[in-house]
Amino acid sequence: MSSPADSSTYRVHIAESGESYLCPPQRSVLHGMEALRHKGIPVGCRNGGCGVCKVRVTSGQYHTGKMSRAVCTQAEQAAGLALACRLYPLSDLELSVVGKMARALLAPAIAKNAPPSFGLTATAPIFPPDEET
Ligand code: FES
Repeated sequence: MSSPADSSTYRVHIAESGESYLCPPQRSVLHGMEALRHKGIPVGCRNGGCGVCKVRVTSGQYHTGKMSRAVCTQAEQAAGLALACRLYPLSDLELSVVGKMARALLAPAIAKNAPPSFGLTATAPIFPPDEET
């Protein structure tokens, strides 16, 4: 027998891209986006360590998994920031992309005329999650 929560999915809306998709509560917002082939949130390590997928939750309820404090501090988390790869919806969510690649999403005209560096280099550090949230 399954509870109603088992079959719940929540609508996730990404402000910058205008995309919306459905995500179940047991799947991270980033994984849910990728599963449906959406692209509004930049994807990095998928492991809570690089900060590329950082978002601000502007509306909705959620919980987070383990995130590296090097890329999402407790103060940032208290202010509504989270790593989409460690963000699980408990209601419909409204998100704004604020991670390292947000600028590429916010300025497509600039990105169109510039080489696609996205601010990443081969030496960009990736920090492993170091604290339970
Ligand atoms: S993809 Fe690296 S922290 Fe989420």
